[in-house]
Amino acid sequence: MNVLIIGSGGREHTLAWKISESPKLNKLFIAPGNAGTRAVGANIPVDLNNFKSIKEAVIEKDIDMVVVGPEVPLVEGIHDYFLQDKILKNVPVIGPVRKGAMLEGSKDFAKSFMEKYNIPTAAHKTFNRDNYKDAFEFIDLLEPPYVLKADGLAAGKGVLIIEDPDEAKNELEAMITKEKFGEASANVLVEEYLQGIEISVFVLSDGKSYILLPEAKDYKRIGEKDTGLNTGGMGSVSPVPFANREFMQKVEDRIIRPTIEGLKNENIEYKGFIFFGLMNVHGDPYVIEYNCRMGDPEAEVVIPRIKSDLLELFEAVANGTLSETSIEIDNRAAASVMLVSKGYPLAYEKGKIISGLENVNNCVVFHAGTAMDIETGKIKTSGGRVLAVTAYGSNIKEALETAYENAGIIEFEGKYFRSDIGFDL
Ligand code: AMP
Ligand code: GLY
Repeated sequence: MNVLIIGSGGREHTLAWKISESPKLNKLFIAPGNAGTRAVGANIPVDLNNFKSIKEAVIEKDIDMVVVGPEVPLVEGIHDYFLQDKILKNVPVIGPVRKGAMLEGSKDFAKSFMEKYNIPTAAHKTFNRDNYKDAFEFIDLLEPPYVLKADGLAAGKGVLIIEDPDEAKNELEAMITKEKFGEASANVLVEEYLQGIEISVFVLSDGKSYILLPEAKDYKRIGEKDTGLNTGGMGSVSPVPFANREFMQKVEDRIIRPTIEGLKNENIEYKGFIFFGLMNVHGDPYVIEYNCRMGDPEAEVVIPRIKSDLLELFEAVANGTLSETSIEIDNRAAASVMLVSKGYPLAYEKGKIISGLENVNNCVVFHAGTAMDIETGKIKTSGGRVLAVTAYGSNIKEALETAYENAGIIEFEGKYFRSDIGFDL
C-alpha cells in the first residue's frame, strides 16, 4: 500500500515511524512532514488545509490510504471531500467525517451529544451575543473556580479557568462581544469545575465497533509542577497507574460504549481515532473533552506501545472489520519528554541548529518543529515544540530516566524541557 499521512508534528512522525515498519507498506508520504519524517518516508510540500493540492498528491503518488493527524482538516471536512469526489471516493481516510469531527470542532455539540447519551461530564450552559447576560446569573450559581470555554477550535487556547466571579463575567463578555478567540468564541460554554486528575483514553473506531488503545497522561503546562501557561503538551507517560481494571471498566461502560452507540444512532460513520480527555473524580470518570484525533504528545507514548501492525488495524477501520481483529500491546511503559524552544508557548526564535541527535541511546526521537536545511543538510528548529524524546522502561520511572538521559544529549540554543514529567503519579 501507498500511504499518505497528513500533518507535520511529533504525532505524525510517530505514526510515520510505526507505519514504516508494516510489511503491508509500499511507499510512505507525509504532507508536509518535518525533518524526522524524511527518514521514514518522503515529504510532500503541500498545505494540509489545501484539499485540492492533497487530491493532486493522492493521484500523482497513487495513494491507497490517507491518515489524517491533526483536527483542523477533519473539522474542515477532508474526509467528506474524499467521499464526494469521483476519483477519491474509494481512497480510505483514517479520521472521521466532519459531523464526527464536530465532537472536537464544537464543544456545544459535544455537550449536547453527551447529555443525549447520558455520558458523564461537567454541568454547563452555552451562551452567545444575545443571552450572555444570563450567564452572569449562572456563574453566581456555581462554585469557583469557573471554567469558560470557546465553543469552536482555538488551538488549545480557548479554555479559561478563573477564581473570581467578576473576572469570569468580564472574560465571558470579552470572549463573546470582543471575539477574544475570534469566531471560536461567538458561543461560550460556562462549565462546572471538576476536581481530579486527568487522563487521556484512546480508541480506534470503524463506525461499528472499537478497539481500546493504551491510555496516557500528558503534561500541558509550561512550568514545573503544572504551573504557567498552557502548551500543546510538554511530555507524556503510558500506562497511567490509576487506570486500573476497575476504572477502565467504568470508562468503557459509561463513556466509550455510549459514545460509539451514540455516533451510530446519529448516523455518523466514525472511522478513526477518538480521544477522550477524562477527569478522574474520586474514581469516577467524566469527559472534559473529545478530540477527533490522536493526542500529541500522547501519540509519542501510545503508538510505540502498540505491537500490532498499525496499517493492518487501519485497513480494518476502512473495511469495517475491526471487531474481527485484536490488538497486541507492549507491556513496557513508555515516557516522552518534549524539548521546546525558549519562549514557547509565547514568541520564540526558529532556525537553531540541533546537535547530538546521532548520540542518543535506547530511545526514539520524534521530530515536531524541525526542518532540514537543504543546502547544509543540517537539522534546525522550526517550531515551539521541537523534539519528543521517547523511551521504554519496565515502569514509568525507568522510562523517564532513559528519556531524560537522552534529553540532555540533544542540544540547540534555547532548549527547554520540564524535568518533572510524571511527578504526580
Ligand atoms: P480542554 O481544551 O477542554 O481540554 O480544556 C483544557 C484544560 O482545561 C483541560 O485539559 C483541563 O485541565 C482544564 N479543564 C477543562 N474543563 C474543565 C473542567 N470542567 N473542570 C476542570 N478542569 C477543566
Ligand atoms: N495533548 C493534548 C492534545 O493533543 O490535545
